Amino acid sequence: MKIISVVGARPNFMKIAPFCRAITQHNAALEASIGDRAHKDPSYIEHLLVHTGQHYDDRMSKNFFESLNIPSADINLNVHGGTNDEQIAATMEAFKPIVDAEKPDWVVVVGDVNATAACSQVGKAAGCKVAHIEAGLRSYDNDMPEERNRIITDGLSDLLLTPDRISQRILLDEGKNPASVKFVGNIMIDTLEEQREKASQLDPVAIVESALLEKEEIPDHAREDLHTGNYGFITMHRPSNVDHADILTPIVDYFCDELRDKLTLIWPVHPRTKKNMIAFGLWDKVLAQPHILITQPLGYHDLLRLNMGAKLALTDSGGLQEECCVLGTPCLTLRWNTERPITLEEHGGASTLVGNDVDNIKSALKRVLSEERKPMRPELWDGKTAARCVREIVQAHQTTQA
Ligand code: UD1
Repeated sequence: MKIISVVGARPNFMKIAPFCRAITQHNAALEASIGDRAHKDPSYIEHLLVHTGQHYDDRMSKNFFESLNIPSADINLNVHGGTNDEQIAATMEAFKPIVDAEKPDWVVVVGDVNATAACSQVGKAAGCKVAHIEAGLRSYDNDMPEERNRIITDGLSDLLLTPDRISQRILLDEGKNPASVKFVGNIMIDTLEEQREKASQLDPVAIVESALLEKEEIPDHAREDLHTGNYGFITMHRPSNVDHADILTPIVDYFCDELRDKLTLIWPVHPRTKKNMIAFGLWDKVLAQPHILITQPLGYHDLLRLNMGAKLALTDSGGLQEECCVLGTPCLTLRWNTERPITLEEHGGASTLVGNDVDNIKSALKRVLSEERKPMRPELWDGKTAARCVREIVQAHQTTQA
């Protein structure tokens, strides 16, 4: 059987890494059991990896391929920039001739980025089967491009591979065919489990020093905070938080003015956020703060290491909510909703929704700073999800061939 799997943006890379490895292991097991005949067996997987090009900076893409041992993409569509609609349209146009030429049996997409929605539609229109890894997440906020991408992709997928029981239930309640909905666990946690030992060897000071923007060196008190674990980290990139001056300014002012004597803040800044901070006149103020260390986007191991030792995460990322849940890092989620309710405190997780309201952030921060870490592992977040994904795809393929 032939599979094309697709990646486009940073959060896809930690999901595709274990999937690629699980395919290699699946083929190796087949070879071990039937030798040379394996290549002719219908369940032997011929795999092509397509990168749509959505993220293209070394620090947003290439570095992840290298550090997570993802095989180089077989094809890069080099589509990036523009609005979401333009990006989806251009990706569809570029992906179509690939699917027509390669004629895969399955197109496998992960997550909820533009690449996910674009390539699932092209795959389905070309008569391929489509599998979605990380199906069934819903924020019920159609203003989010990711929510629209999830609904489109889940609407047309032949195999819906879900990360938790909540998403499983959502898909069944939506009326999806129960035979197509399979609970496999969270594939991103495969990567976390595989990489946490390597990450734990890293030194937080060295991580920040090597990526520091603008400052000559880390001030002494911040160095001390990094040593003793008296630090938090910030990641923000959602348009709803960073595209409007009246929303971004009070949050940045709060980080600058009110957290100064509390802890050091590491802020690996996303290209969109940096561009907007400059446009809104906030960039110089943030850079001037001795307790805020702005860095370039960090590599997977670097951010994982910082997360392992942090007192606090302030983030609007979905993936970080999940990583904080497993590591137990108190996570103030800078959103009003989440498609990942399993990570919330009410389900035993480490995440609290604080939206983008400074009073909310303030009171939640006061509370969580005095709390202990509470690691929590939802069912099947066990590091073995990728193998289950491959198994389900092979089984679904055999069923369609029968
Ligand atoms: C995308 C995903 C989002 C994911 C995020 C992780 C969608 C709809 N959104 O949002 O779900 O959480 O990635 O980062 O797919 N840019 C660069 N270099 C790069 C990549 C982007 O400079 O390597 C710039 C772009 O030119 C653009 C901005 O960053 O100005 C936003 O990039 P884009 O890919 O449109 O979406 P993200 O905000 O990164």
